[in-house]
Amino acid sequence: MKKRVLVLTGGGDCPGLNAVIRAIVKRAGQERDWEVIGSINAFDGVLNEPTEIVVLDDKKVAGIHVQGGTIIGTTNKGGPLAWPIKDKDGNWSTVDRSDDLIRKLQYLGVDAVINIGGDGSQRISQKLFEKGLNIIGVPKTIDNDLSATDFTFGFQTAVEVATDAVDKLVTTAASHNRILIVEVMGRYAGWIALHAAIAGGAEVCLIPEIPYNIDKIKQRLHERIDKGRGFAIIVVAEGAKPQEGTMTYRTSNEVGYENIRLGGAGHKLLQELKEMDLGVDIRETILGHLQRGGIPCAYDRILATQFGVKAFELVLQKKFGHMVAYNFPKVIAVPIKEAIDKYNFIKLDSEIINTARGMNINLGD
Ligand code: F6P
Repeated sequence: MKKRVLVLTGGGDCPGLNAVIRAIVKRAGQERDWEVIGSINAFDGVLNEPTEIVVLDDKKVAGIHVQGGTIIGTTNKGGPLAWPIKDKDGNWSTVDRSDDLIRKLQYLGVDAVINIGGDGSQRISQKLFEKGLNIIGVPKTIDNDLSATDFTFGFQTAVEVATDAVDKLVTTAASHNRILIVEVMGRYAGWIALHAAIAGGAEVCLIPEIPYNIDKIKQRLHERIDKGRGFAIIVVAEGAKPQEGTMTYRTSNEVGYENIRLGGAGHKLLQELKEMDLGVDIRETILGHLQRGGIPCAYDRILATQFGVKAFELVLQKKFGHMVAYNFPKVIAVPIKEAIDKYNFIKLDSEIINTARGMNINLGD
C-alpha cells in the first residue's frame, strides 16, 4: 500500500494556493510509493461525518496553478482546536477535537500532513505536531506578515491589484480634481499599502507601523492643492490608526472566528479630512477581497510552486514540525514554533520606508 500525504488549505484564501497543491502532487508523483489526498475546507473534511477527502492526482491538478482560490476549499472558522458545537439551549461553544483528528488521520492511513495556511493555521500545526502528528507547514497570506519568510505567495498579486486600483483612481481623480482614498488589506502590517503607494505614485500612504497625525496630512494636501495640482491619491492600510486613536474594526460574533474584522480606516480618514474643509471633493474606495481573488501573478505562481516542491521534500526527509520559508535565494525549512513567534511589521529604518520618504510620499508623520 502507498504512503499517504494529506494536504489542506486553511484560513483566508490567497492567490497561489492551487499552485502549491499542484507542485506537491507533481513532486510526490516522482516517488512510486506516495499518494496525495486533500481534505475539503481545511481540517473540516477529516472531522466531518462523512469525511470529505479527495484524491489529488495529475489529472485533478492539471493547469490549476493559474487559478485563484483553492480547489479543496478553505475556512477561517473553527478547526480542530476550536470546533463549534451547539448545546441544548441553542448556544454555541467550541471544543478541542485534536485527539479525534489524529485518530481519524490514522484510520485514513495518513503518514504525513501538509498544512498550507497563515499564522492561525500554523499555530494549529504546531499544537498538532506537539501531539505527535507528522506535519509540515506552508505559509500563505496576501498580508506578507510572517517574519520567518522573505515573502509569502499571494502578496505580489495583491500588490498588483492595489496598484492597478491606484492607477485607475489617478485618472478619475485628475479629471475631477478630487482627493481619492483607497483602503487596502494587510491586517497589522502596511506591506500592501506601501508597495502600492510607491508603485502607483500616491501622495500619502498610511500604515499601521506609523500612527498618523491628521494635521501633517492636511498640510501636505494643502500644499498640493495650493500648487494647482488639485488632486491626490491616499493609500490607507486597513490597520492604519491616528496617533490619538485606535484601529478601526468590528468584532465578529461568528462561532470559531477569532479574527477581529479590520475595515473602515479609509472612511474614518475621509470624515476627518471632510471636517477640515480642504475645498475639494473627497471620495473613498475599499478594495477588500478583490485583493485575494483571481489569477496569481507569475512571481506568486513560482514561489508557491517552490514551496510545494520543498514541502513534499521535507515530508521525505521527515522534517516534521517545520515550515517552508523563502530566504533569498533559497527555500529553507524553519521550525513552525519560531515562525509563528514574530509578526512581520515593516521596520521603520528599512529600505522600503526610505524609498517612500525619498519619493516624498507623506507617511502621516
Ligand atoms: O489575512 C488576509 C486577510 O485578507 C486580511 O488582509 C484581512 O484583514 C482578512 O484576511 C479578512 O478576513 P475575512 O475574509 O475573514 O474577512
